[in-house]
Amino acid sequence: MSQNDNGHKSVVLTDSAAGRSVELPVVQGTLGAPTLNIGKLYKETGYFTFDPGFTATASCQSAVTYIDGDEGVLLYRGYPIEQLAKQSSFLEVAYLLLNGELPNAKQFQAFDHEVTHHTMMHEAFKSFLHGFRHDAHPMAMLCGMIGSLAAFYHDDLDLDDPEQRRMAAIRLIAKVPTIAAACYRHSIGWPVRYPRNNLDYCTRFLHLMFEVPSEPLELNPVAAKALDLLFILHADHEQNASTSTVRLVGSTGANPYACVAAGIAALWGPAHGGANEAVLKMLEEIGDASRVQTAVDRAKDKNDDYRLMGFGHRVYKNFDPRATIIREMTHEVLRELGVNDPLLEVAMKLEEAALKDDYFVERKLYPNVDFYSGIIYKALNIPTEMFTVMFAIARTAGWVAHWLEQQNDPAGRIGRPRQVYTGAASRDYVPMAKR
Ligand code: SDX
Repeated sequence: MSQNDNGHKSVVLTDSAAGRSVELPVVQGTLGAPTLNIGKLYKETGYFTFDPGFTATASCQSAVTYIDGDEGVLLYRGYPIEQLAKQSSFLEVAYLLLNGELPNAKQFQAFDHEVTHHTMMHEAFKSFLHGFRHDAHPMAMLCGMIGSLAAFYHDDLDLDDPEQRRMAAIRLIAKVPTIAAACYRHSIGWPVRYPRNNLDYCTRFLHLMFEVPSEPLELNPVAAKALDLLFILHADHEQNASTSTVRLVGSTGANPYACVAAGIAALWGPAHGGANEAVLKMLEEIGDASRVQTAVDRAKDKNDDYRLMGFGHRVYKNFDPRATIIREMTHEVLRELGVNDPLLEVAMKLEEAALKDDYFVERKLYPNVDFYSGIIYKALNIPTEMFTVMFAIARTAGWVAHWLEQQNDPAGRIGRPRQVYTGAASRDYVPMAKR
């Protein structure tokens, strides 16, 4: 491979065996690694590219979020996550992700009012809950419920209409918490609550989760503040598996509710958003700081498929900046709520042991966003099965931001990867009697 003399504007690939070359344009973003546009590679050379897991493949151009995995940098529309965590709110971050700029007071007030006035579910929608067993996993319920939203807005799904696209984004950000809380209450046999418009986004969600008709809910304001910060940290993360799923489904012209339902399904996996639930179960299984080294040894053993959940990341080869913020806030939130959770000690000892171990150091495996978040959710009385639902509530802002960006791209095409075929070559059918 050689670079031509026009200063990185293209790269020449040469297939010396075939005696041919192809000049590939370099696509350089505002930040990040330069990429090779391989659109004409197959046509001019007969080669596909092969990159299982898409470790070095850009699927799209996007202005929403930037990650530098080596430096541990995360920017939402150019704003460092550390600054947004300190100074912003989840709803303001949702506005930023959707619109590309921070809102002024008037814009935020209008956005907040619109989201607040779309939080209710259609009454018929609640009957869906009764179709689920009470012990159904809330992610299973959420995935089904969000996908069925299309049935309630079938006359408002003209994707060529920017206003209908915008409204779908608002509805999803507004309704996912209401539906998520309803799924939880179904699982414990409590009546579904109606959202209260006089509350902020996170306080409203906690009321939807925990308020009972028989007495007023006493909420410590620390809880809503902690939840708001967790939602900011989970709101978006570039082309992760669930966001890439939303984009792939969106590329077929499917409605936004189907796209987000697909994103929820992808997020559920323990290698992705399901890790926060798996971390807590892992910490409970370890049980005590004295058994941490056994867990670390098991995670290193290639004959054991055990992994330290909440550790490692496809992109971050440094500390996940979100994990650093969550670790610090865990101590503060537990102290302010007066919660003493022995699992925090186990988590800290586990992190300390892993970060001193060559296996993790060599592979640049650090705690990720899921490692500490479950300890905070537990302190907020969120049940473990709801942890990934919490992730989905926050990530809905990122999913709809990417969906809108994709839908607004006039050059958008259906996503359709190729493959390396390893099956049988062509052969003739053999009648049953002769097999
Ligand atoms: C999220 O992409 C995103 O942005 C995701 C996310 C977002 O905000 O959307 O950040 C959210 O999904 C965070 C990740 C949550 N998942 C977990 O915590 C599950 C545990 N971690 C992993 O399974 C793993 O680290 C992944 C899935 C996160 C990343 O997988 P990769 O990039 O495919 O890495 P790999 O599986 O190829 O691992 C590389 C090496 C392997 O060892 P070797 O083959 O080199 O000997 O590291 C080892 C792995 O065995 N390894 C681990 C490990 N993670 C990787 N070994 C022990 N414990 C682990 N957690």
